[in-house]
Amino acid sequence: MSTQVQNEVLKVLEERHSVKQYQAGHQMPKADLEQLLTSAAQAPSAWNLQHWKFLVIDDQAHKEKLLPIAYGQKQIVESSVVIAVLGDLEANKNAELVFGPAVEGGFIPQAVKDSLVSQIENAYQYPQVARDEAIRNASLAAMNLMIAAKALGYDTCPMGGYDAAKFVEAFNVPARYVPVMLISVGLAATPARPSGRLTLDQIAVANTF
Ligand SMILES: Cc1cc2nc3c(=O)[nH]c(=O)nc-3n(C[C@H](O)[C@H](O)[C@H](O)COP(=O)(O)O)c2cc1C
Repeated sequence: MSTQVQNEVLKVLEERHSVKQYQAGHQMPKADLEQLLTSAAQAPSAWNLQHWKFLVIDDQAHKEKLLPIAYGQKQIVESSVVIAVLGDLEANKNAELVFGPAVEGGFIPQAVKDSLVSQIENAYQYPQVARDEAIRNASLAAMNLMIAAKALGYDTCPMGGYDAAKFVEAFNVPARYVPVMLISVGLAATPARPSGRLTLDQIAVANTF
């Protein structure tokens, strides 16, 4: 990777902040939306099971319906699109979709696939594992999406401030999926409020506690 690319990546990471005021009425081109979702899905995931599902809310009537569920946060209705990132509680069911083509393409032998599927099925006996994996892996996709948005000239705000039970009911989210977060994406009308960070001394520990 060239130094210039390195610097650009670091700049995008540094410049991403949570924008709450957007240019209302802006419509995101389909190609940009597809790029965001494709970049989100480049995230790593345990066993490559890709434990994410994206509910794309770009229709104004649906945003209005979401507004009270998200406690009136204006970014819901003013941003170009709200993406509800959901975690897949039954991501073990993706194993065939993921490893079938890998065997057919000669990337992994059948015996490796069988061993992975057996590991996955053992792990997915436990609902807590399924839930932890759903939230952990979908969160990685959410971060990718926000970084990709910034790189494309958009801003975002991740939101945990909404009533998840009401959201599930209002948007007919199947029991297979757990809401992880909402992300507003759009063109900033006002820059994000500055937000500080703890120092490295406060967040990092060398070798062992
Ligand atoms: C999981 C999560 C939930 C959040 N929920 C909300 C929210 O409901 N409303 C909001 O305005 N900001 C929300 N935020 C944004 C944070 O307040 C923000 O990321 C933090 O203050 C750091 O600021 P920055 O993102 O601008 O760097 C959330 C962020 C995360 C990661």
